Amino acid sequence: MANELSHGRILKVSGPLVVADLMSGSGMFELVRVGHGKLIGEIIKLIGDTASIQCYEETAGLSVGDPVQRTGAPLQVELGPGIMDNIFDGIQRPLETIADETKSVFIPRGITVNALDHTKKWNFTPSNEVKVGDIVAGGYIIGDVPENDMIMHKIMIPPNVRGRVKSFVSQGVYTLDDIIMVLVDPLDSSKTFNVYMVHKWPVRRPRPYVEKMSSNEPLLTGQRVLDTMFPTVLGGTCAIPGAFGCGKTCISQALSKYSNAKGIIYVGCGERGNEMAEVLKDFPELTVKQIQPDGSFKQVCIMQRTCLVANTSNMPVAAREASIYTGITLAEYYRDMGMNMAMMADSTSRWAEALREISGRLGEMPGDSGYPAYLGTRLAFFYERAGKVQCVGSPARTGSVTIVGAVSPPGGDFSDPVTSSTLTIVMVFWGLDKNLAKKKHFPSVNWNISFSKYERPLRQYYESRPEDDPSRNIPDMVTKFKKILAEEKSLQEIVQLVGKDSLGEEQKVTLEVARIIREDYLMQNGFSAWDYNCPMHKTTGMLQCMTTFYDLCQKAVASKFTWARIRRALHQQYVDITMLKQLSPALADEKMVNDSVARLLDDLETGFSDLLANRR
Ligand SMILES: Nc1ncnc2c1ncn2[C@@H]1O[C@H](COP(=O)(O)OP(=O)(O)O)[C@@H](O)[C@H]1O
Ligand SMILES: [Mg+2]
Repeated sequence: MANELSHGRILKVSGPLVVADLMSGSGMFELVRVGHGKLIGEIIKLIGDTASIQCYEETAGLSVGDPVQRTGAPLQVELGPGIMDNIFDGIQRPLETIADETKSVFIPRGITVNALDHTKKWNFTPSNEVKVGDIVAGGYIIGDVPENDMIMHKIMIPPNVRGRVKSFVSQGVYTLDDIIMVLVDPLDSSKTFNVYMVHKWPVRRPRPYVEKMSSNEPLLTGQRVLDTMFPTVLGGTCAIPGAFGCGKTCISQALSKYSNAKGIIYVGCGERGNEMAEVLKDFPELTVKQIQPDGSFKQVCIMQRTCLVANTSNMPVAAREASIYTGITLAEYYRDMGMNMAMMADSTSRWAEALREISGRLGEMPGDSGYPAYLGTRLAFFYERAGKVQCVGSPARTGSVTIVGAVSPPGGDFSDPVTSSTLTIVMVFWGLDKNLAKKKHFPSVNWNISFSKYERPLRQYYESRPEDDPSRNIPDMVTKFKKILAEEKSLQEIVQLVGKDSLGEEQKVTLEVARIIREDYLMQNGFSAWDYNCPMHKTTGMLQCMTTFYDLCQKAVASKFTWARIRRALHQQYVDITMLKQLSPALADEKMVNDSVARLLDDLETGFSDLLANRR
């Protein structure tokens, strides 16, 4: 009888959608195993005892009447040490482990493996703030495990658990299957709860936090146009829409490589497999400098702070949605330890397409372009999980999740429903432009349509920097850049109508400086040895030199000098400004860059005062 109850029966199979009856008693979003092959699926619609199931694995070969087994639990991820430096599929199956076990490049259907390695031994150091007899609750940090050279993994009491500590292990080496703490219910001592270094969490449910906070710390990406013109914060929401080939993937990857987030969750959602292969090839070769406890520096591989969730275009479409939820849940877990996390999703459009396919097969009423009417809600629900928060539990701490979602509208048409819904949700919009990409202007961020709503909090941040820090002026310098670019746009129309000669000298200066800004500041070749990454001190130096040049030019013009004359007199300084970006970031020696900038600023001052003096 029990057996009968826990099994449904397939009525219909339609692509990734399976309809089964005899499913009464099951819940929405319950995980089920479909068919004799035990394929993994999730219930997404229930009417009477008929359930519609989206299947995360290829459904070929299923037949009517095959059993559907209920599991009684929703889709969950395993959270514990071993997530970083790992690669999972959309439902957190570890790809390397599967490849080792099956000796195949494909994932066999219905395979069940632990997401994390349960045999690996971890070095656990209990927190000295928790003792036997204490009452602890969800989010309390009870110990540390060094996950690798970069990540100190905090072991926490799982959310929604509470109890008095009955026993607690001492410092030592444990696996994920070892009980490290036993809790008893203070009201009923017969009820106990075992705490492991790992726990599970349903992916569709946001992990709890005390409150959302506003954030004013910049998320630096190493891309000048993003860091200064359209900046984002730790805990922000950003979208990168752009047609095929505009550089969405390059930006997402650059962000993962060089951003100042403590950890990265990179979700490859429905895009080509070779992009994931590229990540797998590139990332392990990249290192960052890390300060050790003794003050020395050590080069550590960036994979150690990165977790990849891969759902490429040849994997089942329904799992795209799962990969997004898996990714954000992993990011929230590390956020709860008090870290600043960044999650990239490339691309959210592929997820929306999966929603459209399933919705169509469910026979739901289609909305704009055939996408389901709830598309906007789903996207909003996802982006809402970003933010800086006060974490639950003790000790008090804050953490953040930044979401960067790529959007690939067909033909680069930003009026498509996914782009326009995303636009109303996110705070930062990096609109990529096909024409710029065609001209090889990368990153092809269009400065006329992109925006950032974090300019005000970031102004506060920069203005609170020490008196002698030139980055205090970043907001003002950027405003000047934007003004120059806007003027260029309107001047270009005049030039097209009546020619360049009709322009005043002041306007010629604006056009020339605008060109410098576009070609020597905004353009940044991600594949060059000197410009793949631009540290903030270099960016600040470039801003200083270019704005100073502009101001001094305008001053000279006001004293009746022509642009041609200025250009001749300051030839060397002009060349130096255009070469600024070639200062190598690998020299990474902040002082060398700062010295070059200071020298150039001096040269500019003397050059212009000589010019003005000659006239006298
Ligand atoms: N920052 C950059 N610097 C130099 N080339 C770039 C840059 N961004 C993109 N590209 C070029 O554009 C191509 C397409 O970029 P990609 O990120 O794959 O586009 P998308 O993901 O939008 O389809 C890259 O292969 C590269 O040649
Ligand atoms: Mg791409």
